[in-house]
Amino acid sequence: MQVKSLRTYLLFWLLAPLAGVVLVNVFSGYRAASHTADMVTDRTLVASATTIAEEIFVVDGVIDVQVPPAAIEMFNTGHGDLVFYSVQTRNGQLLTGSPDIPPPEASKPDRHPLFYQGSYRGRPLRLVALTHPIVGADEANPVTVLVGQTLNSHDDMVRDLLQGSIGQQVVLLGVAAILVFIGFRRGLAPVMRLRDAVLDDKRDALVPLPTTSVHTELRPLVEALNEYKRRVRAQMDAQRRFISNAAHQIKTPLTLLATQAAFAERARNVADRKEGLAALQTGVRQFAHLVNQLLTLSRAEPGARRPRHERVDLAAVARRVLEEFSAVALARDIDLGFDASGEPTVVIGDETMLREMIVNLVDNALRYTPAGGTVVVGLERTSEACVLAVADNGPGIPPEETSRVFERFYRVLANGGEGSGLGLAIVREVVGAAGGTVTLSPPPTGHGLIVAVTLPRSTGHEHEYPTA
Ligand SMILES: Nc1ncnc2c1ncn2[C@@H]1O[C@H](COP(=O)(O)OP(=O)(O)OP(=O)(O)O)[C@@H](O)[C@H]1O
Ligand SMILES: [Mg+2]
Repeated sequence: MQVKSLRTYLLFWLLAPLAGVVLVNVFSGYRAASHTADMVTDRTLVASATTIAEEIFVVDGVIDVQVPPAAIEMFNTGHGDLVFYSVQTRNGQLLTGSPDIPPPEASKPDRHPLFYQGSYRGRPLRLVALTHPIVGADEANPVTVLVGQTLNSHDDMVRDLLQGSIGQQVVLLGVAAILVFIGFRRGLAPVMRLRDAVLDDKRDALVPLPTTSVHTELRPLVEALNEYKRRVRAQMDAQRRFISNAAHQIKTPLTLLATQAAFAERARNVADRKEGLAALQTGVRQFAHLVNQLLTLSRAEPGARRPRHERVDLAAVARRVLEEFSAVALARDIDLGFDASGEPTVVIGDETMLREMIVNLVDNALRYTPAGGTVVVGLERTSEACVLAVADNGPGIPPEETSRVFERFYRVLANGGEGSGLGLAIVREVVGAAGGTVTLSPPPTGHGLIVAVTLPRSTGHEHEYPTA
């Protein structure tokens, strides 16, 4: 999922609810403004209707209606409103004014003024209906005064009231957006500085970043970054050391090969030449072995190959390896045996690399055990693991050397034999990748060495990945 900009995110979550609040405010502001404008309009309407009603007299039994000009002029507020009125008797006789002013819907307006909306000649009106007794006449025969006014001044007032409040709210919204924007810019400045510091790592020196110049919240991130840099630096150092070691290891036999070639060339008789060429051949073989070991080690390193999770039957692999080494064992007069219970010993891992591991262990045992010795590859199974043990009765490895022999290019010179010092380093990488452990220990007799590799057993439920 693509994560949006934090700034957009914050702006959205601040401004969207705020805009909602503003909308609600505008709505309630409109209601309040309408109410105020209604009230103001109604007061004028009622004042006008009362003025008209109070000027209706009965003179000599005849109702005399004189609409005072003040009753109409009080509407003259400069908004160009039209005013309509009518005066009717109780039984609906029109005494004066426009005949078709819309009557209130309530059929019996009492003395209290009744306000309502209506429409007259296509214009919306605000109206009042006022029932008023005629001065000097029977209370039972009141007149009804209807006064209506178009809505210009009413609407203008609503608009004025509303405009002010909307303006304020929009300004508020704008100020909030600007503040978020500025706050974010300022708040993000240390993050930007951090980014520059990361990019600015001159020549990838991987120097730790200062943790003090960032926000407390970001400190764990910087610390994690520093820890990561430290690990990468350590790995790079190890790689550098390895390359320089490897170059050195390659240079020495190459020099030797050159010397041997020169020796063979200068040989005065056939026998000397043959000897020189044989030495040269051995040298080339050893050199090829070194290069092979280097290649295997580089393939065994984490990340070098796509991780493989194959179901590997260790017994089958070990048996094949022993077959390959049978000629070597015979040549060296070593009794090479296989001791497996026959139970399935299936582990999950990379078959090619597990084979390389067994090859290196058997190779070591055969190489360092003197002629006439015994090498046994044992395989057994515990409840959770498979244990492959290669035991020999050779010189063994002194306890103080047992951890060092796993280092690259480290050799126990006292044990003789030719080698590049990479075999056990390969074993350690392969076993580590398969989630196992490897231990070196002397056999009960005290003479020789047992290399035991413990690998987690396959439960049979793992998903197997294709080999290709
Ligand atoms: N079975 C063994 N018995 C006695 N010493 C051993 C045995 N296996 C390993 N060693 C000692 O441990 C050292 C490291 O072994 P390792 O397999 O890593 O390197 P190597 O055998 O010298 O070279 P390579 O295996 O790369 O050709 C060897 O030099 C040897 O002295
Ligand atoms: Mg070896």
